Amino acid sequence: MNLSPPRGTRDFFPEELRYRNWLFGHFREVARLFAFEEYDAPVVESEELYTRKAGEEIVDQLYSFQDKGGRKLALRPEMTPSLSRLVLQKGGSLALPLKWFSIPQCWRYERMTRGRRREHYQWNIDVFGVGEVTAEAEILSVLTTFFSRLGLTPDDVVVKISSRKILETVLAEAGIADDRFAPVCVLIDKLEKMPREAVEAGMAELGVAADVIDRILQIASMDSLDAVAASIGEDNDGVRELGQLLTQAESYGIGQWLRFDASLVRGLAYYTGIVFEAADTGAQLRAICGGGRYDRLLSSFGGKDIPACGFGFGDAVITELLKDKGLLPQLDQQVDDVVFPFGAELRQPAAEVASRLRSQGRSVDLVLEDKKMKWAFRHADQVGASRLVLLAPEEWSRGLVRVHDMATSEERDLILADL
Ligand code: HAM
Repeated sequence: MNLSPPRGTRDFFPEELRYRNWLFGHFREVARLFAFEEYDAPVVESEELYTRKAGEEIVDQLYSFQDKGGRKLALRPEMTPSLSRLVLQKGGSLALPLKWFSIPQCWRYERMTRGRRREHYQWNIDVFGVGEVTAEAEILSVLTTFFSRLGLTPDDVVVKISSRKILETVLAEAGIADDRFAPVCVLIDKLEKMPREAVEAGMAELGVAADVIDRILQIASMDSLDAVAASIGEDNDGVRELGQLLTQAESYGIGQWLRFDASLVRGLAYYTGIVFEAADTGAQLRAICGGGRYDRLLSSFGGKDIPACGFGFGDAVITELLKDKGLLPQLDQQVDDVVFPFGAELRQPAAEVASRLRSQGRSVDLVLEDKKMKWAFRHADQVGASRLVLLAPEEWSRGLVRVHDMATSEERDLILADL
């Protein structure tokens, strides 16, 4: 039997889980600082939640199957559809705006590269019910607060921002119907990975002429918001909102992290406005996180739309980046006391001592078998205990335990009450 986990998936041995918990601890703490509440949903959902028809990669990568009752199900590739389902389920009874977060495990049948795997954990931060860019400014602040906590700076990470409304305007000017908007965005996103001819062929199928693609590419290559504004007009919604966002970012003191990047579109169909992605400034890795505004997703599920925006932040690329920057912490097991009975007849009292210490909130590793003293010292050292508590026949008969301080090697005999 092959003992490796399925390709693209991970086992989490304790040392790896220690790191994961550390990372999730930062996700949770930053969410708390911004008053986001945690939610969850099943990892298995109805397949129809994901089968959008805009040509997205994520749909081809779906882990889908039929259950024994013939239902078509899928492992969630992302959390946004589940979150939308939750919001729709509660309908009008939900107090808006809501600020929620989650850390789901997501599944995608990906081609494996550094930082891309077939399962990953994804911190999701979303706001429902705010149509203004104040929501984007707030969630970008969540993001940069997180980076700062980990010791990353704008020298390490850049958050690229743009707006799909720019592309929407270009398409509208070219007379392309609204329902082509999402599939065109998905195709444009593929320009980096696919030959231009293939993208053009796809566009032609969607009714977009080559000269419109030229115009899109020309705008995408512009390096400032002013240049885009000059080309499509100052009063364009996308341009205006990006301007507002950049101004608000200055009030948050996060402007130095952000960079307007006209070429950013993102590959998911549902985004409708501002989109953003964080990347390492060295451009060595895939996107660290990505998100944007999706004001029309709920109606695609048959509900009433509520403005929404958010981001997903995977655990894989950030780990690679922290490794490269030497910012991964050294995390050791943390035990307060190792309790060691010297001989089988002292096991019972040792268990009592351990219980007593645990009831005071200490983490206690009770030695459960007959072992030599030398072993106990080595073990206490290995598990990072601060004290080794020894129960020896002579001392115990006098109601004493011997406490060895692992850091200083000092030893004292104490009565239980002083332990
Ligand atoms: P996404 O860009 O598909 O967006 O994924 C967001 C992030 O999840 C990526 O930037 C990356 O950190 C991580 N990620 C995605 N796929 C993989 C993979 N195969 N292996 C490792 N990490 C991965 C979404 O999923 C949107 N639902 C995010 C969102 C939330 N938008 C609004 N709210």
